[in-house]
Amino acid sequence: MSKKVAILISGGGSNMVALVKSMTGDHPARAAVVISNTPQAAGLQRAADLGVPTAVVDHRPFGNDRAAFETVLNKTLEMHQVDLICTAGFMRILTEEFVLGWQGRILNIHPSLLPKYKGLNTHARALEAGDRETGCSVHLVTPELDGGPVLGQVKVPIETGDTGHTLAARVLQQEHRLYPAVLRHFAQGYTTPINFH
Ligand code: GRF
Repeated sequence: MSKKVAILISGGGSNMVALVKSMTGDHPARAAVVISNTPQAAGLQRAADLGVPTAVVDHRPFGNDRAAFETVLNKTLEMHQVDLICTAGFMRILTEEFVLGWQGRILNIHPSLLPKYKGLNTHARALEAGDRETGCSVHLVTPELDGGPVLGQVKVPIETGDTGHTLAARVLQQEHRLYPAVLRHFAQGYTTPINFH
């Protein structure tokens, strides 16, 4: 029985598309549902075009009541009998309670070489620091923001003249390779980091 994966998005969902397309053939997982916290996320139509069920759990009606939002989110996950969660461009911070309820079964992709540059604006920060390289990381989600064990990383060179946009585009291309590779490894039951180039 293949593992059921929920992919949580807030926007374009390019990582979601890469993940969905990777879960075919002898892959031990399948995309069960794509959930967005924003009704207008372009990724919702992209998921539907790929034949994946979608759901919206709009966070706005809940205001600051994150627990109430997550109660509905969990109900949606349970409805789809989800085994694993992949957050991919999901812009809501999840509470410790939610994460602990899914710990060991929830992955995230972050556009930096963790533990460097946790949080937002990673490319601008790498450029500001004069770094010669950056990259992306897939990690297990723990209560510490972007702090969980890293399961895979890819390095990306920073080139003269790079802007935040040109760098983000170059890193995103590698995200689309790394995340599917880590998910396949993880869905097979491995929790050790993959060597990926
Ligand atoms: C990507 O940079 C990803 O690393 C970050 O959100 C951005 C957009 O991802 N988490 P996507 O195109 O919505 O998958």
